[in-house]
Amino acid sequence: MCSVYTDLDAEMLIAAAALHDIGKIVELKTTMTGEADYTIDGRLFGHTPIGIQMIEKAAEELGVKCERIRLLEHCIAAHHGKAEYGAITVPATAEAQALNILDTLDAKMYQFEDAYRSVDCGMLSGKIFALDNTTIYRPCDEKELEKYFESGEQNAETDGGGTLYEA
Ligand SMILES: [Fe+2]
Repeated sequence: MCSVYTDLDAEMLIAAAALHDIGKIVELKTTMTGEADYTIDGRLFGHTPIGIQMIEKAAEELGVKCERIRLLEHCIAAHHGKAEYGAITVPATAEAQALNILDTLDAKMYQFEDAYRSVDCGMLSGKIFALDNTTIYRPCDEKELEKYFESGEQNAETDGGGTLYEA
């Protein structure tokens, strides 16, 4: 991304990408059964302000107080993009905007990966809340397509899912 958009401060974007969710260390705890649950501070504040506090504390301990810390904290404050998604503010720097786009891309791609695990090839998923209630289609790879057409399933009734077309 930084080699295409050369005005981006690559060092800042990499630092922000590495640290944007650092507050989750405090926001979440792992139960005895290995499941994640929210801590009290996690529920009261969320990982974004907690992360900013952590950066602030680390900078103070290192005796660093500069514009770059402020910009890094802004990236963290804005990484969810909009108030309705938990952002403290909207992105006001190119790096904060780039981080929000990358974080959103990552979250959406995860939803596809997750849905693909439970949807057969050539079929549609149910509505996915995290994708604005979109129904997604799981394409088939070449091997799956061959198997599908060999099986003769293409003539069978489906549950309303997709119709496969030969490439
Ligand atoms: Fe986050």
